[in-house]
Amino acid sequence: MKTKFQGKEINIKRIGILTGGGDCAGHNAVIYGLLRRINAANQTLPKDEQMELIGLLEGWKALTRDPETEKDKIEVKLTTPDLKDSYKVAGTIIKSSRTNLFSKENLAKKAPEKAIENLKKLKIDCLVVLGGDDTLGAAGKLGKQFTFPMFGAPKTMDNDVYGTDKTYGFDSSVIESVHFIENIITTSKSHNRCFVVEVMGRHAGWVALYAGIAGGADVVLLPEEVVDMREVIKRVEKTMASQKYCVVVVSEGARLFDTRFPKEVNDSNKKLLDAVIADSKYALVKARHELPKKKDSFGNEQLGGIGEYIFSLLQEHTKGIQYRLQNCGHAIRGGIAHVSDRILGLRFGDAIFDFMKEGKFGVYPGLRGDDIVASDLLTVKGGKFVPDTHQLYKMRNAVDFY
Ligand code: F6P
Repeated sequence: MKTKFQGKEINIKRIGILTGGGDCAGHNAVIYGLLRRINAANQTLPKDEQMELIGLLEGWKALTRDPETEKDKIEVKLTTPDLKDSYKVAGTIIKSSRTNLFSKENLAKKAPEKAIENLKKLKIDCLVVLGGDDTLGAAGKLGKQFTFPMFGAPKTMDNDVYGTDKTYGFDSSVIESVHFIENIITTSKSHNRCFVVEVMGRHAGWVALYAGIAGGADVVLLPEEVVDMREVIKRVEKTMASQKYCVVVVSEGARLFDTRFPKEVNDSNKKLLDAVIADSKYALVKARHELPKKKDSFGNEQLGGIGEYIFSLLQEHTKGIQYRLQNCGHAIRGGIAHVSDRILGLRFGDAIFDFMKEGKFGVYPGLRGDDIVASDLLTVKGGKFVPDTHQLYKMRNAVDFY
């Protein structure tokens, strides 16, 4: 395709595409959305302008490898049969990794320079990067620093990226979480139990909030709020007394302690937790509590485990209630790509082709209402949290106890 990049005419023939960060539903749909347009354009393009879509394997890691000896680990040519069915499922057919080209260690190894050299060796004319704010941020930096034609598309089950009303991957994770919660409700009812269910979502409570309300959870705890265990205990006791079962959904980013919490809440939570940790029954909880938090190459804390605290606190500080703990884990970002994520992914892939044709480089598509808009990759930002003014945030707190 002949188009313009920074005022100069360029001929884009080999389009590279990679997926970075945690996988989610919709990656394959973006790839397919773009491939469909490439295939359609190839019908009428002259031979010397025919395009191909090249999958770069395992995200940015592909570009840290050595093309002379590791070509099979770096690239794969993508064709319709690869995508025709797989756009309906979650995951990514071109694999992913959490590689940060701009980490201290990778900067010392000149990884960004090597990535650009590799793109040239692989004859990639333009790169499409699918990921969350970390992956897209790296695309923006690389594109700017080396004047390379780039695009992005905003994914993540967490739904925490600015520039789009919704990231692809979010809806499917909510649907899978709802199934999980509903399954838990049937068993908790049979046994008159209280279940604590932890769901991923990093520091944004979107998945927990949507799934908790849609699935019928009795208590939903979010990273965006003050979690006062005295209140949680009261709500669980009241719910158990009235309906004999209870489901508490906890977002993995929810906290018991925070400098933004009133001191009195931090102190009270600490007192309650100290009583748990002092009991040898909870030796494993204590041991995990004392372990240093692991971080990924972007410096994000590896979360998970708050559900266990909430479960232990409830168990220790209530009487006559049987508790069970479940963590949805990674299962909620796998399986089917539900319809809205297929559509959003296909639309993003399609939009990227239009941006390319228009010579609008260095951008990523986003959804605004029902329209697709373009945002500059250099402005990409995560941290889109649930505001306390959100209707669902307020609805969640209006639960009655029969
Ligand atoms: O960012 C997406 C996400 O699924 C988060 O919800 C979760 O905290 C994290 O990825 C898990 O990361 P990993 O796949 O590296 O365990």
